[in-house]
Amino acid sequence: MNILVTGGAGYVGSHACRILDKAGHDVWVYDTLELGHRQAALKDKLIVGQLGDRELVPQVLREKKIDAVMHFAAYALVGESVRDPAKYYQNNVVQTLNLLESMRECDVRKFVFSSTAATYGVPKEMPITEASDQRPINPYGFTKLVVEQALRDYAHAYDFGYAALRYFNASGASAGGAIGEDHTPESHLIPIILQVALGQRKEIFIYGNDYPTPDGTCIRDYIHVDDLGSAHVKALERLEPGKGIEANLGTGTGTSVLEVIEACREVTGHEIPATIGERRPGDPPELVANSDFAQKTLEWTPEYMTIRPIVESAWRWHEANPRGYATGTTVS
Ligand code: UFG
Repeated sequence: MNILVTGGAGYVGSHACRILDKAGHDVWVYDTLELGHRQAALKDKLIVGQLGDRELVPQVLREKKIDAVMHFAAYALVGESVRDPAKYYQNNVVQTLNLLESMRECDVRKFVFSSTAATYGVPKEMPITEASDQRPINPYGFTKLVVEQALRDYAHAYDFGYAALRYFNASGASAGGAIGEDHTPESHLIPIILQVALGQRKEIFIYGNDYPTPDGTCIRDYIHVDDLGSAHVKALERLEPGKGIEANLGTGTGTSVLEVIEACREVTGHEIPATIGERRPGDPPELVANSDFAQKTLEWTPEYMTIRPIVESAWRWHEANPRGYATGTTVS
């Protein structure tokens, strides 16, 4: 299929592009490069533009004979979404609706959407199934939920076939070490810990150790970014007009902040000083996926089932690219 990947120069999108490419799809990357990296995009496949551009997007959809859109482009910082919700609603909702309108105009009706565990808020039961209530606790989660609802309605009224894939904690770097995680500012746990190992930060601050969890630190479900990519390919191949696939993408294994730090110490051989700090507002104590539905429906099994190989892959990237893409890494 001919696939347009929005946000294909970003962290999850760039990994998915390579997996789509390997699976034999013809992939086009569409990215503003505001947060994405030119070097992360597939070579000679990058189109720089805004999602809401009602001239350029239809032109690309037609010229490249696009069959399906994978939509990764979004702002994804929870704290920022609380401080500046307009930025999130404009980009994640308004721009996405414009993208969907361009698709309708060009009769492209297959859509794979990056959703999030943040649509569940603070869930009542653990692990989280797709039947769990979706009650986001921040604007970021709401923007993703609004688009999920729009997709349900578009499927019903306009025969869209969609997948809304709810990621738990995307982590790790490509198995070959070619691409990895590089956010500015960096807010994610594993890259920050590895920056301590590289001597770029003095210590890791643990955001609270008084949570109701066995070691008092927050528990998350870390899912390797290549496993997210392979789930996208499987979802794409199963899209049907008028139907939606809504699925959790996680491993089903919870790992605490302290366990992640310990894995990073073992993998890097560095001491990695850690200090207990205040809780970060808005962090649920535990988020772990029940991913049975995704595994069954998509016939998908994550390859990375524990934290250690995830950290190993991330460390390969960070050690080789201590300044991320700023080192001028060239990949294809
Ligand atoms: N943490 C620390 N110290 C740090 C950074 C993080 O202790 O310096 C802790 C956090 O408190 C959290 C865990 O490490 O308990 C993971 O934090 P991340 O920021 O890496 O990831 P989150 O779980 O907060 O966020 C992820 C995605 C978001 C998504 C959210 C859903 O990155 O996009 O899950 O809740 F919205």
